[in-house]
Amino acid sequence: MDLVPHAPQLTGDTEEVNDKITLVGEAPRILIVDDSPTIRYTLKKDLLRMGAVVTEAANGSEALSCAETQDFDLIITDLEMPQMDGFTLCARLKSHPTKNSIPIVILSSRETEIDIENAFKVGASNYITKSNARKDIRARVKEILDKRSLLNGRTVLVVDDSSSIRNLIEKALRKAGFQVILAENGKMALELLARYSPDMIVSDLHMPVLDGLELCKTIHHNSDFSQIPFIIMSSDGDRAKMRQLLEYGASAYLVKPFNIEQLVVTAERFLSDHFSRVLNERKRLESERQLLIASITSLVLALEAKDLCTRGHSDAVAALIIDMAREMSMDEDQIERVRIAGKLHDLGKIGIRDDILLKPGPLNEEEWKILKLHPIIGAEILSPIQSLSDIIPAIRNHHERLDGKGYPEGLKGGQIPLLARMVAVADTYDALRRDRPYRKGRSEEDALAILYEAQGTQLCPECVEIFLKVLEKHGLESAAAFGWSM
Ligand SMILES: [Fe+2]
Repeated sequence: MDLVPHAPQLTGDTEEVNDKITLVGEAPRILIVDDSPTIRYTLKKDLLRMGAVVTEAANGSEALSCAETQDFDLIITDLEMPQMDGFTLCARLKSHPTKNSIPIVILSSRETEIDIENAFKVGASNYITKSNARKDIRARVKEILDKRSLLNGRTVLVVDDSSSIRNLIEKALRKAGFQVILAENGKMALELLARYSPDMIVSDLHMPVLDGLELCKTIHHNSDFSQIPFIIMSSDGDRAKMRQLLEYGASAYLVKPFNIEQLVVTAERFLSDHFSRVLNERKRLESERQLLIASITSLVLALEAKDLCTRGHSDAVAALIIDMAREMSMDEDQIERVRIAGKLHDLGKIGIRDDILLKPGPLNEEEWKILKLHPIIGAEILSPIQSLSDIIPAIRNHHERLDGKGYPEGLKGGQIPLLARMVAVADTYDALRRDRPYRKGRSEEDALAILYEAQGTQLCPECVEIFLKVLEKHGLESAAAFGWSM
């Protein structure tokens, strides 16, 4: 047992842990290997609070049997243990044909340089001393698992005219958890590029048919592929050529002969950086989109505050078409679009004069003409927002009719976008059921009769059918929830 008396300060019940980790949507599986039950207990408690699934082993040979029968995303092991120590465990796992890509963290009270060096020699990803464990372990575990989640199964295209070099690199990259595709020259690489969309390219410089420089240049000028990290390998240390390659967007230049581990580490580093950037950019765009939607939703609220008749209407339409989308087995991304379309479908009414919008009686022909502009106004308000471009047709066309007699474009049947046809059904039903200052909302029976009647002429029959299923599921309580006439 290599436990020093005051070192393992792993507990910390009062500290808030908000660094939950997931691995592509799943809880990461972590194996803790230590002969001290106290250390295992405190470490386990910490990892459980991070959302991990934890298995325990009391020594190296127990850990090896666990790893044989279960899959782990990370192993944290002590060094000095009875039966099999941490170094031997690490070496055995790293030479295992299917378990060699599991990252291993050594957690030890020994702090000598030789121990740390030996740990990395046998393939450990990280070395944490028990005196620093409380401080370091969560951040390190999160870092390793995030990287694993980002890199696992990523595809690298290896381009080299030497089959022995291709095989050597392929073996090393596969061992690190990458998928690998191989090309003999730049021309073949370009063909594979279109077919497989790799996440990274590792290419030789001097090759027949199309060399590395030409390949890099071609990729650099193709907007579909120019973002893929490109690592060039060559025995040629020519600075002018290197500069040219960097101008063409190469991420790194490895001068042969290089250590194969160096290539793997470079590939991992570039992919980590690349994907972190992509992820951050995606997060930024998503938060920008949410902000925009929040501002637009407040416009809808402003509209509803003004026009009491439409209050709650957008929410009801959104709720109904979300349920329709679920009934149609749409995925969560599509459902989010459906929700936004429901909330915003009448946004354009904000641009309609109050004397028309708020008129407490039926509209005359001229007033109708103006009110009918609201789908176009709504589409125009949203048109500068690139991320909502696929929703805009649903806003513009939610008053089209299947027989072509709707507005604003008079589209017919299948020309009307599906989302617009879905909105039309929920919109029609909700409008019928809701009270107006000059008339009471229709009963469920009456509204359903009108809906049946409108199938095939005004409304899409498939959408009506799905809507009826949704309505049935909602039952009677929906009337009160949606503010419909009882
Ligand atoms: Fe409308």
